[in-house]
Amino acid sequence: MDNKINNGRDFMKSDFGEHSFKSDQQKGISQPPLEKNYDSEEKLIDLPNIEDFEIGEVNFIELIENRKSLRNYADKPLTLKELSFLLWATQGVKKVIRNGYASYRTVPSAGARHPYETYLIVNRVKELEKGVYRYLPFENKLLHCFSEDDTDEKLNKATLGQKFTVRSAVVFVWTAIPYRSEWRYSVTSHKPMLLDAGHICQNLYLACEMIDCGTCAIAAYDQNCMDDLLKIDGKDEYVVYLSPVGKK
Ligand SMILES: Cc1cc2nc3c(=O)[nH]c(=O)nc-3n(C[C@H](O)[C@H](O)[C@H](O)COP(=O)(O)O)c2cc1C
Repeated sequence: MDNKINNGRDFMKSDFGEHSFKSDQQKGISQPPLEKNYDSEEKLIDLPNIEDFEIGEVNFIELIENRKSLRNYADKPLTLKELSFLLWATQGVKKVIRNGYASYRTVPSAGARHPYETYLIVNRVKELEKGVYRYLPFENKLLHCFSEDDTDEKLNKATLGQKFTVRSAVVFVWTAIPYRSEWRYSVTSHKPMLLDAGHICQNLYLACEMIDCGTCAIAAYDQNCMDDLLKIDGKDEYVVYLSPVGKK
């Protein structure tokens, strides 16, 4: 069998029983920050608190039954409150434990490492200029990274012509900072990190159902083009998954 296929199959298996590794944590190396650093001089936008978000009664069985991937979006924009709700549902912080050792969030993560950052490519969100933003889950704020004229063009190319990404109201893009998990789990960390991403996106699907929105997970994209679009290095941080969101 093709070597690449074999490597891929092996990657899906658990390494935990195989390796007697010593992780950086075991070596006593100090842990990486729970959130990517940012310059506090940059433009920050306050997000509405989840406590202020009123949501009607839901039938959980119907919610799950109705979930499906949505690729056609209405022109109606999302409100900042709705966006804030989706960010909370996917990466919201509930608690920080042991003096910043780990965070508990609205989604599970292997060893509570939470190796993902959330970027937003904003197209139609009330009160937000079009552009690229990053969610700061510990501060419940948005960081405005940049706004450029050719983002739509780059996004279309990076998602291999899947035009619905450009027509969405906002694209959620999750980047991994692998060292956050490698620090604790070394060579065994990579499979669990990918599993983490599935939980995040599933919460996005379900939260979208609550606010008359839909989303569609995307794994088919050009790695270099997506990393370049976000202006990240592609080595210590790179895109793993994305999901455009819009009104039904
Ligand atoms: C990991 C993953 C990757 C996916 N990648 C794409 C994609 O690149 N483009 C796309 O149009 N749909 C993508 N999808 C959506 C699937 O095609 C969709 O979930 C599937 O057809 C089942 O439809 P449903 O979600 O409506 O149940 C992806 C879904 C998952 C879970």
